[in-house]
Amino acid sequence: MQKRQLGPCVTYFPQPTSIITSIDQAGTANLMTASWVGIVSKTPPTMAVSLHKGRKTYENILQTKEFVVNMVPASLAVEADYCGIRSGHKEIKSEACGLSLEPAEQVKASLLVESPLNVECRFVQEVELGEYRLVMAEILQIHAAESAFDESGTMDVRRFDPLVYLGGVREYWDLGNKRAQAYTDGKRLVGGK
Ligand SMILES: Cc1cc2nc3c(=O)[nH]c(=O)nc-3n(C[C@H](O)[C@H](O)[C@H](O)COP(=O)(O)O)c2cc1C
Repeated sequence: MQKRQLGPCVTYFPQPTSIITSIDQAGTANLMTASWVGIVSKTPPTMAVSLHKGRKTYENILQTKEFVVNMVPASLAVEADYCGIRSGHKEIKSEACGLSLEPAEQVKASLLVESPLNVECRFVQEVELGEYRLVMAEILQIHAAESAFDESGTMDVRRFDPLVYLGGVREYWDLGNKRAQAYTDGKRLVGGK
């Protein structure tokens, strides 16, 4: 495969689209879209998010040590984009984009009602990366929409309809089709192709 070199940049996809909900010391909630988010440990369950040090969200997390990562469904692409181009330093984004919040179980930051998957997190440590801070947090609770489970109790990913972000080309897509079963279909190649 012939390739073109892009140099040191941030073109990489797909990425999940998440809205991080946080709260400041005065109790004001904030919503911020983030794509540099992921699970980074199973034992203990740990989430990592990379935040520019100037974000209102980062300031809130430093103050309260808690936040929620909310998976964004494809139906909320425009609202997510709004939360990624406006700052809580200047406005209350939930009012502007019409999204709703409800109390979480373990943390003071709220759950995004319209998100089918909310991850409650408590700050553990951070790593300085130039202007960014890689924040690692313990996962305290995960809420998954009841409507995403089928009769046998299996999660049906189509019902979550996650919004996929393509970093570098700056596009939002939906999920597309299932191609294989993880930890299973790769076994077909044991012994060679
Ligand atoms: C699709 C998308 C993904 C983004 N991902 C991140 C990210 O992972 N980390 C980050 O610091 N900013 C990211 N941003 C930028 C912030 O969302 C943006 O600067 C926002 O205004 C910060 O909000 P706040 O100041 O209210 O926290 C992203 C923006 C978009 C549109």
